Amino acid sequence: MSFTKQDIYKALETITAPGEGKSLVENENIKNVVAFGNEVIVDVVIGNPSLQAKKKVEVEIMKAIHEHVDQKIDVKVNVKVEVPTKENPNQIRGKEIPNIKNIIAIASGKGGVGKSTITSNTAISLAKMGFKVGVLDADVYGPSQHLMFDVEKERPLSVKVEGRSKMKPVENYGVKLLSLGFFTNPDQAVIWRGPMASKALNQLIFDADWGELDFLLIDLPPGTGDVHLSIVQAVPINGAVVVSTPQNIALADAKKGVAMFQQESINVPVLGIVENMAYFTPAELPDNKYYIFGQNGAKNLAEDIDTAFLGEIPLVQSIREAGDVGHPVALQKGTPLEKAFEDITKEMVSQLLKRNANLPPTEVVRITTMSGCSTK
Ligand SMILES: Nc1ncnc2c1ncn2[C@@H]1O[C@H](COP(=O)(O)OP(=O)(O)OP(=O)(O)O)[C@@H](O)[C@H]1O
Ligand SMILES: [Mg+2]
Repeated sequence: MSFTKQDIYKALETITAPGEGKSLVENENIKNVVAFGNEVIVDVVIGNPSLQAKKKVEVEIMKAIHEHVDQKIDVKVNVKVEVPTKENPNQIRGKEIPNIKNIIAIASGKGGVGKSTITSNTAISLAKMGFKVGVLDADVYGPSQHLMFDVEKERPLSVKVEGRSKMKPVENYGVKLLSLGFFTNPDQAVIWRGPMASKALNQLIFDADWGELDFLLIDLPPGTGDVHLSIVQAVPINGAVVVSTPQNIALADAKKGVAMFQQESINVPVLGIVENMAYFTPAELPDNKYYIFGQNGAKNLAEDIDTAFLGEIPLVQSIREAGDVGHPVALQKGTPLEKAFEDITKEMVSQLLKRNANLPPTEVVRITTMSGCSTK
């Protein structure tokens, strides 16, 4: 059998990179090709972490080589997942965050629907997939991530980076964390006004030593008021995830949440909707599902407003307990809940990749007048 590396590259040129309209070779997905005897090893990098996407590219590569070069070649494909960096989505108005590739806000309209739970578990799932992840708890009313990550007693250290003092995020479960909770006394109600909140958050993003991050997840406070606009204004968000329960009142608020991001002046793409507390399953009757807040509400809403449905999480006592003791369920290996969060996380990343491929970088929002709140 005789063939060259060039023959292999030619065969790979026939495969189109997902969402790019270019070939895998042209799009620089192919990192290396080794050919010896009747064996070929192809190293390929893709952006989508789902098993399906990995399998698809593997099969396409094998097929192309067998069809265009030789049926008998023994093809091995090494697939690596990396978040694409080529367009640096955070390079906005001169404010660059070179180390943070993607910022995702987790929002809801109604309070208590599970934003913080979804944020912590999704962050852990991302970390387990090998991504570098940070969480910024921006809940000005009641920060909770320091509790969920069991780092309540810790405080971010001050470190010198290139001669400047920066805050070093606290780390646990492979996730870096900064929370407004580190800076407030739990016994004192802190009234954060819009501009104050946006200033604090700005510092937590730009004056912190996050290091390299593939994802920074921002846990937003509930609601869609002034303070939210200030936060969204302060931070270059690439996409938002909206959490809702299937209950009508939560759905109405989720719709407002989506509308807030879609306002012309804000224009942050909504990556999708997560249905939390989708049904109740008692531990002793794991096959029984009780739709106590209604059925498929968030799924239907996603369809109605033409937004992706990212998946559902049931109402399970262990989710609450695990959050309360600072050891989120996504850490429980081999459980259906670990898998449920993993599936949602993969869907979120898929949607983000679509967004990064199809839309220009999100502009930092500029709103000049807002009731009771100056945002300069
Ligand atoms: N799927 C679930 N099953 C059981 N308990 C849950 C689930 N999701 C969230 N909880 C619990 O419900 C409570 C509220 O959840 P969480 O704090 O995540 O909501 P939130 O939307 O962040 O609230 P807030 O609006 O106050 O920030 C917590 O005690 C949490 O442990
Ligand atoms: Mg919360």
